[in-house]
Amino acid sequence: MDLAPPRGTRDFFPEDLRLQHWLFGHFREVARLYAFAEYDAPVVESAELYTRKAGEEIVQQLYAFEDKSGRKLALRPEMTPSLARMVLQRGKSLALPIKWFSIPQCWRYERMTRGRRREHYQWNLDIFGVAGVNAEAELLSALTTFFKRVGLGPAEVGIKISNRKILQTALEKLAVPPEHFAQVCILVDKLEKVPPEVVKEEVKALGLDPGLMDRVAELFSFAELDAVAQVVGQDHEGVSELRQLFALAGEYGFDEWLRFDASLVRGLAYYTGTVFEAFDRGASLRALCGGGRYDRLLSTFGGEDIPACGLGLGDAVIVELLKDKGLLPVLPEHLDDVVFAFDPSLRSPAMQVANHLRQQGRSVDLILEDRKLKWAFKHADARGASRLVFLAPDEWAAGKVRVKNLKTGEERDVPLEAL
Ligand code: HAM
Repeated sequence: MDLAPPRGTRDFFPEDLRLQHWLFGHFREVARLYAFAEYDAPVVESAELYTRKAGEEIVQQLYAFEDKSGRKLALRPEMTPSLARMVLQRGKSLALPIKWFSIPQCWRYERMTRGRRREHYQWNLDIFGVAGVNAEAELLSALTTFFKRVGLGPAEVGIKISNRKILQTALEKLAVPPEHFAQVCILVDKLEKVPPEVVKEEVKALGLDPGLMDRVAELFSFAELDAVAQVVGQDHEGVSELRQLFALAGEYGFDEWLRFDASLVRGLAYYTGTVFEAFDRGASLRALCGGGRYDRLLSTFGGEDIPACGLGLGDAVIVELLKDKGLLPVLPEHLDDVVFAFDPSLRSPAMQVANHLRQQGRSVDLILEDRKLKWAFKHADARGASRLVFLAPDEWAAGKVRVKNLKTGEERDVPLEAL
């Protein structure tokens, strides 16, 4: 039998889980600082939640199956559709705005590269009910707070930012019908990964002029927002939203992280406005985080739209970056006491001692087999315990246990009540 987990998935040994708890601790703490409430949803959802026609990679990578009663189900590739479903379920009873976060495990049948796997945990922060870019600013402030907490600054990580409304206007000018907008966004996003001829073929298949991709590339060659504004108009909604967002970033103090990038579209069909992506300035890794505004997702599920925006940051990519930068923490196991009976006849008192310590909230490893004292010392040392508490016949007869402080080497006999 192959002992490795299925390709692209991970086992979490205790040391891996310690790292995960450390990372998720930062996710939760930043979410708490910004007043996001945690939610969750099933990892298995109805496949129809993800049936979108725009030709997104995420849909092609779906782990989909039928259950025993013929229901078409899928492992969630992302959290946003589940969140939208939950928001619709609550309907009018939900007091807006809401700020919610989660750390779901997501599944995508992905081509594996560094930091890209077939399962990953994704920190999601979403705001529903705020139409203006104040919401985006709050999200990006939380994101940069997280990066700073794990030791990453604007010299290591940048955030590319754009607005789909700009591309939308450009496409309208090129006579692309609005119903093709999402599909064209996905094709434009592919330009980075797939040869332009392949993309052009797909544009043609939509019944559109493949030449429009060259015009889009021209628009994308502008490095400055001002240059784009000259094409789409100074008072264009997308341009002014970006300007507001840059101004807010200055007030929050995270403007150093931001970089306008006209070519940023993101590969998800539902984004309607601001889109952003956090990237490694060393350029050795794929996106660290992606997000944006999706004001019209709810109506695609048959509900009434609510303005919304959010982000997702994957655990695997950030860990790769922290590894590269030497920022992974050393996380020893935490153990207070090892309790050891010198003699099998003292096993029952040893349990009492362990119980007594545990009731006080100490983490106690009770040695469960007959072992030599030397072994117990080595074991306590290897597990990083603070104290070795051992029971010997004479001391126990006098109501005492011997306590060795493993940090200072000090050793003394202590009455049980004083432990
Ligand atoms: P996404 O851009 O598809 O967005 O993914 C967000 C982040 O999840 C990526 O930047 C990356 O860190 C991580 N990620 C995605 N796929 C993988 C993978 N195969 N292996 C490892 N990490 C991965 C979304 O999923 C949106 N639902 C985010 C969002 C929330 N937008 C609004 N709210």
